[in-house]
Amino acid sequence: MAPTVTILAIESSCDDTSAAVIRDGVVLSNLIAGQAVHEAYGGVVPELASRAHQANIVPVVDRALAMAGTTAEEISAVAWTRGPGLLGSLLVGSSFAKGFALARNIPLIEVDHLQAHVMSHFVREPGREDALPDFPFLCLLVSGGHTQLMVMHDHLSMEIIGATIDDAAGEAFDKCAKVMGLPYPGGPVIDRLAAGGDPYAFVFAKPRIRGLNFSFSGLKTSFLYFLRDRVAEEPGFIESRRNDLAASLQRTIIEILIGKLVRASKETGIREVGIAGGVSANSGLRQAAGREAGKQRWNLFLPELRYTTDNAAMIGITGYYKYLRSDFSDHTAIPLARYGK
Ligand code: KG4
Ligand code: ZN
Repeated sequence: MAPTVTILAIESSCDDTSAAVIRDGVVLSNLIAGQAVHEAYGGVVPELASRAHQANIVPVVDRALAMAGTTAEEISAVAWTRGPGLLGSLLVGSSFAKGFALARNIPLIEVDHLQAHVMSHFVREPGREDALPDFPFLCLLVSGGHTQLMVMHDHLSMEIIGATIDDAAGEAFDKCAKVMGLPYPGGPVIDRLAAGGDPYAFVFAKPRIRGLNFSFSGLKTSFLYFLRDRVAEEPGFIESRRNDLAASLQRTIIEILIGKLVRASKETGIREVGIAGGVSANSGLRQAAGREAGKQRWNLFLPELRYTTDNAAMIGITGYYKYLRSDFSDHTAIPLARYGK
């Protein structure tokens, strides 16, 4: 029998400090400490994020080890997010990972945050035998910083076949929510408000981008001008139509995303299809993907909500597959604000 592989994973690319323990591909713990400090600023403040990571990282790792019922001595390797992300935030995770690996004399494994979001579909949970995607696997990654269509050829080989040319889908949610005076992050708030609104109440211009790329900055601008004009006519417009605005905006974003996902599936012929990243928590997007799966005969993978936003379990599962191939990094590896660049 192969020896047990226990990975300690660290994720600190943005505003969540997360640690997870993955044993032989099964998640034993996955702890996330969010940072409420950014709410008052309407967005993530990099300097404050670095400080909060610094305060949180040791307690979060301690708890992750305890909840997994394991100790530092049993860890086979440390996986850490090398990028992309905020440099100051990444530095906290990378320094911790290096210190831990050095102290225990175990390998260090660097992980691409974006690949990890897609790999969240391969996290197994104790006592569950969920079907995992077959390869090639087509995945739409939609987060606050990224909107990409990826094809996974195997656990570690990933091809980007489409990407946003400006804003990410999560950014479109967050920026439009801000214009409506809603708190940050706006995506989940829009999701909740949309449930009580008419998705066809308003029509916003959709971008015409050829191929598999996306664009969201035009939608954001058209939403802003639309609100400005309507508020000039009727000062209470946003408050009185909040639900309809949220529902119409959400429908537009979903139509853009699903339209490209369908196109990507047709062009590649891949029917193993998933969504990942923070925006994949959106209930409207999940329903739309489900409807489309029926029409297109997709084998659809929707991540559990706990694996949609940033988490260390996805870093751990990627690290596990890298461990099996002895794909280790050395202690001179530095975090990359833009991975691969
Ligand atoms: O993956 P993530 O945690 O961080 C990045 O790597 O960016 O994604 C965060 C993004 C934010 O833009 C947030 O508004 C969005 O995911 N988000 C949602 C929902 N939950 C989180 N957007 C729409 N509907 C949701 N339910
Ligand atoms: Zn992310």
